[in-house]
Amino acid sequence: MQEKKIVLNFTSAHLSDLDTKDKELIANAKAAFTTAYAPYSGFLVGASILLDNGEIVNGSNQENVAYPSGLCAERVAMFYAGAKFPEVKIKAIAVSVISKTFKVTDVISPCGACRQVMAEYEDKQAQPIKVILHSPNDDVLIANTVQDLLPFMFKSPHLKKH
Ligand code: THU
Repeated sequence: MQEKKIVLNFTSAHLSDLDTKDKELIANAKAAFTTAYAPYSGFLVGASILLDNGEIVNGSNQENVAYPSGLCAERVAMFYAGAKFPEVKIKAIAVSVISKTFKVTDVISPCGACRQVMAEYEDKQAQPIKVILHSPNDDVLIANTVQDLLPFMFKSPHLKKH
């Protein structure tokens, strides 16, 4: 028996500390949350993806009266990027949030399903995706790879026979 540890790396920052590109991506994520369809939760999430070709793809959460039929902002953006630019690598994703019913004070933490989807694209492109999480009071958390958000992730080699 052996006890092991995993180290997760991330940067905690304020919006004002970031470079122009990251600030711009966050501004896009904020613009994206205004397009959220969230009549049930009042929780508006925006995700903005920067692609290797310079294109920016935005997504927002889309809810449904049959709750599980809705989709988070991150997956809307990821699947849109995958569908529109299947061969183009994803450099970064910024996620921002606001609530219609309470004051959000922390950065949003993408749900497990969204992390798994981000991890799939990172695996597919064999290049890390930077994840930038932004709160309404301009606190920012940055992970330089999805690996740091999802240890013990299910990966494609797990599907192969050994
Ligand atoms: N939501 C997202 O869009 N992204 C997340 O990372 C977490 C949650 C959405 C799903 C639902 O529409 C609302 O926020 C409340 O869970």
